[in-house]
Amino acid sequence: MFCFFLYLAALSMLTGTTATSQTFTNSGEMNISSCPITYYGQKYDKVYVAFNASRFAVCFIGVYKPGIKNDCIVMSGGTADRGDLAILSREIPTGSGVHKLLPNLKNAGKCVNIIPLKDSQQSEIEQVELGNFGTQAILAIKTYSGYTHVDVEADAKVNGLTVSKQKFQTAETSKGVITDVSGCRLSGVAYKTNTTVKDPNTCSTVTCDVNGVAGAVSYCGPMERCQGDGRCVLNTICTVTGSTVIDFVGRVRSVPDRCGYTLMRPSSIPGLKVLGVFQERRRKDVSFLDRVILQLDQAGVQISLEQGGRVQLNNKVLMLNATAQVVHGVELSKDQMGVTAKISASNHTVSVLFDGSVTLIHMTGPSGAHMPGLCGNSSRTLSKEKVSEHSAPGCEIHYDDAADSTIDCNATTEWCNLLKQAPFTACSRHIDPEPFTTACTRTLCKYPAVDGLKCQFLEAYARACTRHSNVTVEGWRSKTSCSAFPQDFVTCQDRFCSAHEFCGESNNGAETRCLCRAIFASKYKSTGAFGEPTVCGQKSASVTLAKCLLEDKSIDYSVLHLNDQTCTGEMDNLTHMVMFSFDSSSTCGTVVTANNSQIIYKNTIMTRNSSMFGLINRQIPVHIDFSCFYSQPDVNSLAIKLKHSSVIQQITSGEWSYNLSMKAYTSSDRVQAIQSSNEIQLDEKIWVELKTDGLAEKMVVVVTDSCWATDQPSPSGSLRYDLIIKGCPNPADQTVKVEGNGLGTSNYFSFNTFQFSGKTGDVYLHCRVELCVRQGNTCTPTCSQAERRRRSAMPKYKDENPAFINLAWTY
Ligand SMILES: *[C@@H]1O[C@H](CO)[C@@H](O)[C@H](O)[C@H]1NC(C)=O
Ligand SMILES: *[C@@H]1O[C@H](CO)[C@@H](O)[C@H](O)[C@H]1NC(C)=O
Ligand SMILES: *[C@@H]1O[C@H](CO)[C@@H](O)[C@H](O)[C@H]1NC(C)=O
Ligand SMILES: *[C@@H]1O[C@H](CO)[C@@H](O)[C@H](O)[C@H]1NC(C)=O
Ligand SMILES: *[C@@H]1O[C@H](CO)[C@@H](O)[C@H](O)[C@H]1NC(C)=O
Ligand SMILES: *[C@@H]1O[C@H](CO)[C@@H](O)[C@H](O)[C@H]1NC(C)=O
Ligand SMILES: *[C@@H]1O[C@H](CO)[C@@H](O)[C@H](O)[C@H]1NC(C)=O
Ligand SMILES: *[C@@H]1O[C@H](CO)[C@@H](O)[C@H](O)[C@H]1NC(C)=O
Ligand SMILES: *[C@@H]1O[C@H](CO)[C@@H](O)[C@H](O)[C@H]1NC(C)=O
Ligand SMILES: *[C@@H]1O[C@H](CO)[C@@H](O)[C@H](O)[C@H]1NC(C)=O
Ligand SMILES: *[C@@H]1O[C@H](CO)[C@@H](O)[C@H](O)[C@H]1NC(C)=O
Ligand SMILES: *[C@@H]1O[C@H](CO)[C@@H](O)[C@H](O)[C@H]1NC(C)=O
Repeated sequence: MFCFFLYLAALSMLTGTTATSQTFTNSGEMNISSCPITYYGQKYDKVYVAFNASRFAVCFIGVYKPGIKNDCIVMSGGTADRGDLAILSREIPTGSGVHKLLPNLKNAGKCVNIIPLKDSQQSEIEQVELGNFGTQAILAIKTYSGYTHVDVEADAKVNGLTVSKQKFQTAETSKGVITDVSGCRLSGVAYKTNTTVKDPNTCSTVTCDVNGVAGAVSYCGPMERCQGDGRCVLNTICTVTGSTVIDFVGRVRSVPDRCGYTLMRPSSIPGLKVLGVFQERRRKDVSFLDRVILQLDQAGVQISLEQGGRVQLNNKVLMLNATAQVVHGVELSKDQMGVTAKISASNHTVSVLFDGSVTLIHMTGPSGAHMPGLCGNSSRTLSKEKVSEHSAPGCEIHYDDAADSTIDCNATTEWCNLLKQAPFTACSRHIDPEPFTTACTRTLCKYPAVDGLKCQFLEAYARACTRHSNVTVEGWRSKTSCSAFPQDFVTCQDRFCSAHEFCGESNNGAETRCLCRAIFASKYKSTGAFGEPTVCGQKSASVTLAKCLLEDKSIDYSVLHLNDQTCTGEMDNLTHMVMFSFDSSSTCGTVVTANNSQIIYKNTIMTRNSSMFGLINRQIPVHIDFSCFYSQPDVNSLAIKLKHSSVIQQITSGEWSYNLSMKAYTSSDRVQAIQSSNEIQLDEKIWVELKTDGLAEKMVVVVTDSCWATDQPSPSGSLRYDLIIKGCPNPADQTVKVEGNGLGTSNYFSFNTFQFSGKTGDVYLHCRVELCVRQGNTCTPTCSQAERRRRSAMPKYKDENPAFINLAWTY
């Protein structure tokens, strides 16, 4: 030690090759750039020297002031109050005396800053030397006879904190002492060279090597975080954004389909499952997280977090606000950032935040939890994580869509890489941005940056950071022009979309509405249809259109109606399907036409008459025809033997099913039907009514085409007497009167009873009945001469399959 100091001192004195000489009194700032000193890992090329009454301080950042953070060596100064600086360049090879004295010193010496201190009488008090050994440094002190204290103190301070305190007796310092002032620093904390210490603040093992380089290795697991007291606790975040799952340790996985998967099933909270259900939006080949389901097996409940902040508890919608509401042990709340569900058990807390697009699942608690599900390891086999009760049939089918040529993947990548730049760097120490940039580029290179998607990934990263580490990334929104709250969440708030819809932007972001999902829409877009084909019922027809398909073409369903403008579409508020229909009681202006084989019911969905709008309107004219075709009533004659005075026949054929009855009465009011016990006199007037039940009167009427009597059950019996011919009374029989024929679903006729001459026994009355589609009054037979001249003889429409009915009575 003695020798070394003298060696240095001798060099400086003997050679006199000092580069510069700067002097100071009381204090001074000195340029040591020609012999910079690396002090605890930090290289300085200036020193600030200062005395106070008892101390001499050499500082590197500024003039020494007690209590101010600085890197300093504070020494006893004796009575010195002035000094100067000489810098001496000199190679001191490794293995020299000084290296033997200080075994931690590994580098060769390069130069030395020599500071002789004197008092006002210019007598030498003390000499201080700072030697540059590359990334290491030494401090040497020698006292002279003018130094009157019994010892010399030398405190090394880093960042204002004393990292070493040394005291040397003047007996030693008068010969010269030398000490190592090398070290490392990490996050402002100083470490001595060749040391390994545990840092409880960061739960890491810090190693300071001889080159002044410190390294820290955390002893917490990848899902854990240091609690600051040396203990690691579970603190981990899983993010699902779009189709990408960033699991608890940062592995990225894209869910390729539209099924439901287990995101997490923490062993520490038995019975809790967090499930994610994916759905496509604008493209068939990109799926998005659509809903997050918290399944509580023990309580047998399921809480579903959906788009627009909608929350359902077992299919019942819950109204939430910022005040947490506890439902089966789950705290539920809603604010401008989304819906949060929080559940705790066994000191573990799981909080699930969902804003309709992104979910953050944050889990904290004691370390060592086992975590099945995609959040635990996103590389797990998908089929094993699939939840069948939340997976629609065919959800795993893979679709391909043509690439979107408007996407510039280079620009997208540049945008996504913002996550690796300031101000996001404030977070990079806590959460690796790489998985988020990967998720961002994967999605945005394929899917258009609409519906707030562009900001979604930045938002997700900033939020994950705040949740995980309480670090707020400041100013990123202004730098990126992203709005203060998740856009999708705010604009879709409380908007309910049906299963085949999602909430998104339309008109270039000018408005938000429920848009058709791509796979749903593709079924119709290829044919240009707005919905399902016409459903024809027996007496009704309906057309069901999808509201979202209409809106894609800027059609507002509420301005549409049928031929009769009071018949408007009815929207089902769960399915968002709009139904237009008519039936026999409200025909809605349906036009019925017929040819020999078919009856056609036709109506049209059209836009409201323009006179009902104001001065202008933005409705595209709509004209959607829909028709139902029915085959003609196909009724076969049934041979029924009757001995009664009334008969009902049930007739079913094709779409038509009706009852046809024939009853005889003794008075024109047709109240009291003739019973078989009644006695009817010969030449007594009777009224026979032919009546149908179950036909749509507004569309179809009954025409009695002909009635005749035979003496045998067969309508073609050899004896035949005509009462009605071609819908009109037999002109040869003046007793016959026909009433209401072709006007409705019943008609009747009257005649005077008779018997076949020379015959006794049964008389069989047969009628041939036809159905006629109502078109004006064309179903009414024209019986008078005058009428016949005006019109063609019979209804335009002739039933090829008439119904036959007969009534028998005995004399
Ligand atoms: C320190 O000295 C060097 C030359 O030794 C000179 O180049 C440099 O500008 C000086 N720095 C200051 C801050 O005076
Ligand atoms: C001189 O500095 C030392 C070290 O901080 C301090 O303890 C002491 O009080 C100071 N003395 C005077 C007179 O300022
Ligand atoms: C580092 O210090 C240990 C003792 O703490 C010592 O045994 C070892 O030799 C030192 N290593 C070097 C390279 O100086
Ligand atoms: C939040 O909701 C709860 C329960 O529905 C209600 O009691 C409370 O008044 C609401 N708070 C606010 C601020 O609306
Ligand atoms: C939760 O933590 C507290 C305090 O650390 C401990 O006393 C208690 O046993 C823990 N409970 C469970 C269920 O682990
Ligand atoms: C994650 O899951 C995959 C597939 O099952 C497996 O190969 C891998 O080892 C798992 N990784 C971890 C860290 O458990
Ligand atoms: C994207 O970048 C690649 C490589 O940097 C370049 O070859 C390519 O031309 C760029 N494409 C566009 C559209 O700018
Ligand atoms: C997060 O930081 C805020 C202020 O920055 C502080 O008030 C709060 O206590 C911190 N929370 C945690 C959990 O550290
Ligand atoms: C649908 O309408 C019914 C009755 O009008 C109403 O009770 C229900 O809340 C509505 N549902 C939705 C999802 O709007
Ligand atoms: C009746 O109309 C239908 C539908 O227009 C048509 O398909 C059919 O060929 C027509 N039949 C006759 C006989 O004209
Ligand atoms: C529209 O309404 C006006 C007045 O009510 C009527 O004169 C016109 O015929 C209607 N046009 C159509 C196409 O129904
Ligand atoms: C026809 O009559 C039968 C028996 O009285 C009855 O069950 C049925 O509902 C009737 N059908 C129609 C279409 O009125």
